[in-house]
This record gives sequence, structure tokens and C-alpha cells, in this order.
Amino acid sequence: MKYDIKNIKLAMLGKRKIEWAEKQMDVLREIGLRFSKTKPLKGVKLAACLHVTAETANLMRTLKAGGASVVLCASNPLSTQDEVAASLVKDFGIPVFAKNNIDRAGYYRHLNSALDTKPNITMDDGADLVSLIHTKRKNLVKNIYGGSEETTTGVIRLRALAAEKKLLYPIVAVNDAATKHFFDNRYGTGQSTLDGIIRATNILLAGKTVVVAGYGWCGRGFALKARGMGAKAIVTEVDPVKALEAVMDGLEVKTMLQAAPLGDIFCTLTGDIHIIRKEHFLKMKNGAIVCNSGHFDVELDLVGLKKISKKVETVRPFVQNYHLKNGKSINVLAEGRLINLASAEGHPASVMDMSFANQSLAAEFVVKNYKHLEKRVYDVTDKTDQYIARTKLRAIGVSVDKLTAEQVKYLSSWEMGT
Ligand code: ADE
Repeated sequence: MKYDIKNIKLAMLGKRKIEWAEKQMDVLREIGLRFSKTKPLKGVKLAACLHVTAETANLMRTLKAGGASVVLCASNPLSTQDEVAASLVKDFGIPVFAKNNIDRAGYYRHLNSALDTKPNITMDDGADLVSLIHTKRKNLVKNIYGGSEETTTGVIRLRALAAEKKLLYPIVAVNDAATKHFFDNRYGTGQSTLDGIIRATNILLAGKTVVVAGYGWCGRGFALKARGMGAKAIVTEVDPVKALEAVMDGLEVKTMLQAAPLGDIFCTLTGDIHIIRKEHFLKMKNGAIVCNSGHFDVELDLVGLKKISKKVETVRPFVQNYHLKNGKSINVLAEGRLINLASAEGHPASVMDMSFANQSLAAEFVVKNYKHLEKRVYDVTDKTDQYIARTKLRAIGVSVDKLTAEQVKYLSSWEMGT
């Protein structure tokens, strides 16, 4: 078996982490049991480009249990848990191409190694596999049944590709499932972003002003959790509806230029480029902390920041202190890469459970239906969402009411009014 990981001797540590996470992944476990009996992915080659974490390891195990031969590469150079990669190789016989802190060339070498297996299914977090296939490895398309995409940024890229009629195979937008983005993006990102900031800096949140750039599901979750820790949140937005929601959620909404002198901590969660720029850095308080929790490391203009700095110093792991020419200094976390996976461990297993249940079922959907699918982006079905939510509720011991016959009739009628 070919693979490229940091150190196989870390496997024991990784195995413990994988087993710990598995205990909180009830829906995925249930799917895994069914998969191991019915083998819906038998004979299928699947290449996954995801954050290499304990939770992802359990997804890989589930897909393998379903009969697929899987290969995993990392979807970000800073998020790989090397001990998990080691255990996947040693204990579970799953090839991994991922090393934490790898350079750009190594990152793409790993993606290409995963694609060398000539997959039938691609599974992306950020659409890097799809992008590579559509640019440099088009010859692989003939083997591909379809794919799935985990994150908002990836889905945006894929919808852009589909809109130009250039998408070469069907993709399931896992991110857009209710049981994914309402939970993973909101509660997962909310908690893990805060976790990442705290692990990197050990700062007290209570009484601080946190500037949250973007009020999508991730921004909402982060603002909610930061307030829960006693911080004051200021939101910056470009979308008037989201801005209004933030106002009515009781938050202050300002432009980044207005917020810049007020914030102690800044976090971008927008999916867009250069949200915090030179003009903003120049107005910040001395010692401000700036980080990103969006998928790509483009949200902070660090090139611009470097231009107005005279020195950059690493003051703690994951903290770089930029000494500005104006005499102030700014702390940038994890080089502007997604903070929740760089300095923390990503979202907790209990929430990744639902995201990865969606991924497993998306793979099954593609295998069952690929002969009839069009080259477009597909949504997860309501039935799948309902199944995942019900299974999760059952696992956590929560019961819900059922509609009575009278209620069913009422909901399907139009005659009855006041
Ligand atoms: N994305 C965010 N958190 C994650 C995790 N724990 N595993 C894989 N992908 C993630």
C-alpha cells in the first residue's frame, strides 16, 4: 500500500483519538453497521480530500465498511492530525497522503497521489480535487460517477463551475443539507473557532470586543458562542438581510473601518477575499488579535499587512506578532489559515457525525443513481435530512411528537379558516 504520512509510530495515539470520536458519532455508526452488512459501495474507488482528523477517520472506516476502497489526502496543509493519519494507515489499512505543515508543492503532490488511484467518486472539502480534475487531470473524468462537497466555499466554487456549464460530473452539495450547515457550520464552527483562539492565545474572552466578519451560519455560531463567554460582538456584513438579522439578534453592526479601532479580537468567516486590509490593520488597537475561520487563507490581506510592518516575530505557537511602522503591533493567528483546525481539533465529533452521515449517504446515492444523474450540483434529499435528524435525536434520547390524523388532514386542507 502506498502512502505518505509523517510518522507511523504515532498510530497508537491516533487510534485512541479515533475511538474516542467514534463514541460520539452515533448516526455514522448506525450507517456503518448497515454498510458492513449490505456493502452498497462494493468495488467502488473513492478519493477523499478532507481535513485529516479523528472524525474523518471514522468516515473513512464507514466507507470502507461499505465495500469502497478509499484513499485520503488533506484538504488543508495545517489541519492534518499526523497521529490520525498514522493510525489510518497502520490500524485500518487506509492509504493516506497527508502531513501537517506541508508546503504547497507537497500539498498538491498528495492530491495527485490520491487521484492516481483513478477514483469513481471524489469527496471534497473545498473543491480542490474537483478543481484539479477539471484543470490538469481531465482524463480521469471517464472513471468518475460523481462526487460530494462538504463546505460552503466548495459549493460556491462548484455552482460557479456548473453555471458556466463546465462541471464534468454530478456533485452532491452536502454542505447545503439542513443537518449539515445548521449544526456543523453554526455550532461546530462556533465552538471550534473559539477553541482555536483560546488554545493559540489563552486570552480571557469575558469583557472583550470580538469583531465577527460575516453573518452566515459560521459567523452566527461564532458570535453566539463568543457572547456566551462574556464577549461583546460587533458584526460586519455586506448582505443587508443578514446585517438586519444581526441587528435584531441584538448585535452591533458596523463597517470594518468603523469596527477596526474597537475590536480586541477579529475573526473572518466570510468565504471571500481580503476582508481585513491595510486600511483596517492601520486603525486597530495595539495588540489586536486577528484570525480567520473561513476555508481558504485569503480573508486577511497578510501581504498588505507585511508592507506596513517593519518586523514579524513568532511569539507563541500559532501567533505571529506584526510590528507596524506606525508603532502598534498586531497578532495574526495561524498565518490566516482556518484557526479552528490549525490550533484546535476542528469541530467536535458529535456534530461531524451528522456532516459525515450526509457524506456516507451521498456516496451511496451516487453509486445507486449515477447512470441517471446530470452534470450538475444536487441537493441532499429531505428524506435523508429527516433520517439523520431522527437518528441523532434517538441517540441523544430526545422524543418528538407525531402529527395526529386530524392534524395531517388540517395541514393538507385549505377550506378551514377562522
Ligand atoms: N471540519 C471542521 N471540523 C472538522 C473535523 N473535526 N473533521 C473534519 N473536518 C472538519
